[in-house]
Amino acid sequence: MAILTGINKVKTAVFISGNGSNLNSLIKFSKSSKSPISIKLIISNNSKAKGLNYSKIFRIKKKVINFRNTKTFDNKLISILKNNKIEMICLAGFMKILSKYFIRKFSGKIINIHPSLLPKYKGLNTHKRALINKEKYSGCTVHYVNSRLDSGKIILQKRVKISKNETEKTLTRKILIQEHKLYPEAISKIFNL
Ligand code: GRF
Repeated sequence: MAILTGINKVKTAVFISGNGSNLNSLIKFSKSSKSPISIKLIISNNSKAKGLNYSKIFRIKKKVINFRNTKTFDNKLISILKNNKIEMICLAGFMKILSKYFIRKFSGKIINIHPSLLPKYKGLNTHKRALINKEKYSGCTVHYVNSRLDSGKIILQKRVKISKNETEKTLTRKILIQEHKLYPEAISKIFNL
């Protein structure tokens, strides 16, 4: 297996809005020699996102961008990404919908993690809906981002069994544990590692 150093790793930005547990797992993965990516930038649309603390812990540059106006948001974001020579974007609990213009600009370079077995349960409250529908299984999906919500090409999925007494809280925790493994695996898959 090729040894990847900081120099030849793909410069990556992770976009977050909340806790950033997936960001944490991606940072840890990125530091291993088998990771094809190096995380250079953390972007958040929420200045209070807990996950922003990982910027300090791991000394990774962070930027908060929260303009209401889509054009202003896009322009600012694109210029920050260009200045930092970002080549790949990982969405990890980023709650703002990216514009078609932005997605086109970074076409094929944006991936996302979603807490359901897509194409089932696109959008929000996935665990709640899976429980209401008495699903036997749920899980998580890493997929490319296109202009339709949670509809891009699937890279990798992990199925999780829903137990009898499952609650939204226990299912969230159970699936998050799998998300933290799946996201790095999906990135390795993209680069054929
Ligand atoms: C995860 O469940 C992810 O699949 C979804 O948002 C959640 C983010 O969690 N898109 P965290 O901020 O990574 O802890």
